Amino acid sequence: MSTSNQENQTWKSKGTFLLAAAGSAIGLGNLWRFPYITGENGGGAFILVYLLCVLMLGLPLLMAEVSLGRYSRRSPITAMGSLARHIGASRSWAGVGIMGVLTGVMILSFYSVIAGWAMSYTYESFAGTFTGMPADEIGKFFSNMIADPVTLTIWHTVFMLASGIIVGRGIHKGLESGLKIMMPALFILMLLMLLYAITQTGQFGRAVEFMFKPDFSELSVNSIIAAMGQAFFTLSLGMCTMMTYGAYMPKENSIPVTCLSVAGLDTLIAIIAGLSIFPIVFAFGMEASAGPGLLFISMTTAFSQMSFGAIVGGLFFLLVTIAALSSAISLMEPAVAWLQERFGMSRAGATVIVGALIWFVGLGCVLSFNLWSGEEYKLFGKTFFDILDYLTANLMLPLGGMLVAIFAGWKMGRNKMMKELGLSTTLFNLWMPLTRIFAPAAVLVILFTSL
Ligand code: TRP
Repeated sequence: MSTSNQENQTWKSKGTFLLAAAGSAIGLGNLWRFPYITGENGGGAFILVYLLCVLMLGLPLLMAEVSLGRYSRRSPITAMGSLARHIGASRSWAGVGIMGVLTGVMILSFYSVIAGWAMSYTYESFAGTFTGMPADEIGKFFSNMIADPVTLTIWHTVFMLASGIIVGRGIHKGLESGLKIMMPALFILMLLMLLYAITQTGQFGRAVEFMFKPDFSELSVNSIIAAMGQAFFTLSLGMCTMMTYGAYMPKENSIPVTCLSVAGLDTLIAIIAGLSIFPIVFAFGMEASAGPGLLFISMTTAFSQMSFGAIVGGLFFLLVTIAALSSAISLMEPAVAWLQERFGMSRAGATVIVGALIWFVGLGCVLSFNLWSGEEYKLFGKTFFDILDYLTANLMLPLGGMLVAIFAGWKMGRNKMMKELGLSTTLFNLWMPLTRIFAPAAVLVILFTSL
């Protein structure tokens, strides 16, 4: 059902989809969010549930989203709407895409603030600020930074400008070239940090135990929700992002192979991040449950002691920033594409409107760490940032994913899905019940037990 003007808008080479999808998936979710949420939820048992969620919910849903996108060859809102029309289902399915647009705006408004921290740390590391700094002062440096709304706003603004420029220039030009170098560079630097953690901290064994020896007494209902939310968040699922990318995927790419690679790489990076961070955390007597500052404080402590730490550290945070940038693009793209398609706006105009809105909401997240951190500004004990993070990752993404699963599993029809997915009959017979029954049921059960 592709229309002629959209038909040739596929990625230039076969590898580009993988690169772009991995670029979206790999980001702050793996490097910043995974370690600190793991720390807050007690380690091993949480990671086990998270891995199960990636395998049994994430992977089937990733394949579903990409297939729907490629089948329709449209951006998510029109994709859901026109798919629904095409197969004679209710037009209200378009609502799933609209919810995705909103979710993306909400996520990016806090994501950009955290990416701003990474930018600030890139600058400070290269400037040598942390060289030889004692561990407790590194903790204080972080507290001072987040206590200062002006600094946070400046970096948040810089990050949103960078994202906006890339999105505004269009998806191909901005993405294809840079990621080819940056993604492997990030991977190599992560391996280097892992090596440091193994050889220099003396706490690697303890970290492995913390991450992989499940202690189920640590596992509350809330930890299970958090594990599911993290699986959706880290794979960019549940807001039709992967559908957008699927729309640009050439027919000759294998959906199962690419999805397996994306999920595998994403999980690998998260695990390596954890295995690098927790040994440092234990070696310097920090708290695993320290919260959103965990990545910044622990890694900087290691860099401060390392030879060439200023350069290695600066490079590390630079790559974190770029990983965040390639994810931010995919959070912004659905909203921009929607304004363009729905209201006939120019790409530049749509980008300015979306970017300005996200920037403004982001100010609330900036203030959550300082002026609005007091109890009188909290709702259910949560700051504005906490609420955005919780609502999107733990509720909206799983709900969006559930609706996509129902649509792909029940509405699209067996034959269309089988043809688009290109799975063998055996694997398809595994995918189908996971998507039709397990995914919706699991999301519902997990969400309802929380109420
Ligand atoms: N997956 C990215 C990360 O781990 C964040 C992200 C990008 C995302 N696009 C998304 C999360 C869409 C949810 C939905 O950093």
